[in-house]
Amino acid sequence: MKNQSGIRNFVIISHVNHGKSTLADRFLELTKTIPKEKMQPQFLDMMDLEREKGITIKMQPVRMLWHPNRTFDNLRLTNDKLNQKSKVKGQELSNSKQEFVLNLIDTPGHVDFSYEVSRSLAAVEGAILLVDATKGIQAQTIANLELAKKQNLLIIPAVNKIDLLTRIEETTENLANLLDVDKKEVIKISAKYGTNVEQVLEAIIKKIPPPETNFKKPFRALIFDLKYDPYKGVIAFVRVVDGKIKNGQSIYLIAQKTEGKIKELGYFRPEFSPKEELLAGEIGYLATGIKEPAKVRPGETIIKIQNSKFKVQNIEPLPGYSEPKPMVFANLYSQDPDDFELLKGALEKLKLNDPSLTFKLDYKEGLGRGFGCGFLGLLHTEIIVERLKREFGLNLILSTPSVIYKILTIDKKEILIYTPSDWPSTSKIKEIQEPRAKIQVLTPLNYLGLIQELFKTFESKHLKTSYFQKEKLELIYETPLRVIITQNLYDKLKSLSQGFASMNYEILDYRSSDLVKLDILILGKKEETFSKIVPRSIANKEARKMVEKLKEILPPQQFSVPIQAAISGKIIARETIKTKRKDVTAPFYGGDYTRKRKLLEKQKKGKERLRERGEIRIPSKVFLEMFKEG
Ligand code: GTP
Repeated sequence: MKNQSGIRNFVIISHVNHGKSTLADRFLELTKTIPKEKMQPQFLDMMDLEREKGITIKMQPVRMLWHPNRTFDNLRLTNDKLNQKSKVKGQELSNSKQEFVLNLIDTPGHVDFSYEVSRSLAAVEGAILLVDATKGIQAQTIANLELAKKQNLLIIPAVNKIDLLTRIEETTENLANLLDVDKKEVIKISAKYGTNVEQVLEAIIKKIPPPETNFKKPFRALIFDLKYDPYKGVIAFVRVVDGKIKNGQSIYLIAQKTEGKIKELGYFRPEFSPKEELLAGEIGYLATGIKEPAKVRPGETIIKIQNSKFKVQNIEPLPGYSEPKPMVFANLYSQDPDDFELLKGALEKLKLNDPSLTFKLDYKEGLGRGFGCGFLGLLHTEIIVERLKREFGLNLILSTPSVIYKILTIDKKEILIYTPSDWPSTSKIKEIQEPRAKIQVLTPLNYLGLIQELFKTFESKHLKTSYFQKEKLELIYETPLRVIITQNLYDKLKSLSQGFASMNYEILDYRSSDLVKLDILILGKKEETFSKIVPRSIANKEARKMVEKLKEILPPQQFSVPIQAAISGKIIARETIKTKRKDVTAPFYGGDYTRKRKLLEKQKKGKERLRERGEIRIPSKVFLEMFKEG
């Protein structure tokens, strides 16, 4: 039986931007997983999009090997409650020549990607909770800690960015208080410069328990992530729980009742590194040989088909994951109707890699076949659209993202709607309800005034203000979910407080609301994609804002184009894009007046034809710009 006591499976969790990927970089260097010449900042952020935006979107596992080359005497760890779980004693390690396998999963910090975090937590035994000294404890520090506690993970607290020499002691104390441990347990590091990072590795080995394994039990593995490969089919990222599996063996997915045959298996280095077998306690990948993406889901239990007498009933499935709940909905169409099948395939493949995306078929007059999609938030929406473009070369049209409204009609029906174009006529509506959310804001005292002002503009109800530790306040508000989504509340809060204030929210029930549908007409034609649901009280202001914005961002046309906003057919705002006259006669300077006049007339006729057909091409950039601002 192979001893797995040298394995440590762990994640790094934190609020967004507190330095997870940078700390992972130092681990990769210290363990010599990546040669120095290949190293680049935030190495595990493998998508171009992650690098451009400077944020982690996808979790990324990596297997590192480490030979501690010094004793642990200088490590100030005590045998307190954080240490109780560990089965390995420090003294044994200091004398050992053992090689350790460190399986790290780097996770995103933004609230829109918390489903990525929760999935990776189920695959590990421990978590490094990283807090930026300058920012202190923020909303996702707490939210992610709660998730880790639910999984009974051993938590290693660390304060990062100590090179900036600000608020180190204070943040250390607050973090120790949050976890109810001694201040000495908090490791003070600079991920950027590598200060004390080795201490973190040592703490991982000393404190995080090795995986509990049983090789005698039949093989079971939990799928925590997925990827599609055109040659190998669906690749499952797994944590092996029991037994072992070899290349070429046959597998069975319990929930989906699907069979497969392993085409390749191995470790993450962080690229796929093929091996011959995977054992209990390890993290790795299995190329399942399954070609249809829809047949494999994260949370699924993979077992091995032993022989023809093998019985599925004898094997317990692993707990799996709860389904993520989409909050934001929008319709997605390919600009070229011929790309519909391509879009369908792209969504199926993306869903493997991002299971929080939901989609179902939709048809709209003028736009053709498309999909009604559900996302976790606005950033998530933006990322999906961008990935569809970059990874699948699709040009897309996206309707304005929205929450789901509940409409009670006069004939006592209940309709759930998110696309304004499905909105029933006003005469049929008895009551409109929308979801509300409870927001928790954590902020240093000095931003209190600004935050109160911000929430005043947002139809919110203040519920509570109290101290969170010594120098932060916790504010609780209740607000329509629509405000969080369409007004980009998260970003506004962040920018007004230079990133110091942070928020988290939970969905409450549906409540009655006075909302109207605002339509946009371009060249007299209703452009349903721009329609929006807004509170009656701000409809006029919103209408002005929208027509002005459209005037600014629509490309110049060869004839003047009216842009109008209307409620139930009544125009409430108007702007006009003036003609951009292109001088088609320019090449004929001088002489030949008849030729010049003929050309001008031809141009005029052309313009009239376009105008008659009501044709103005709206680039997809304009749609994206419109929904971004809310
Ligand atoms: P998300 O995954 O998007 O949540 O971000 P993250 O937590 O992985 O943070 P990341 O490692 O991308 O670092 C965020 C920013 O902080 C980057 O600009 C880093 O260069 C910087 N940073 C990280 N660690 C340190 C540090 O120890 N000192 C200083 N001065 N800056 C740091």
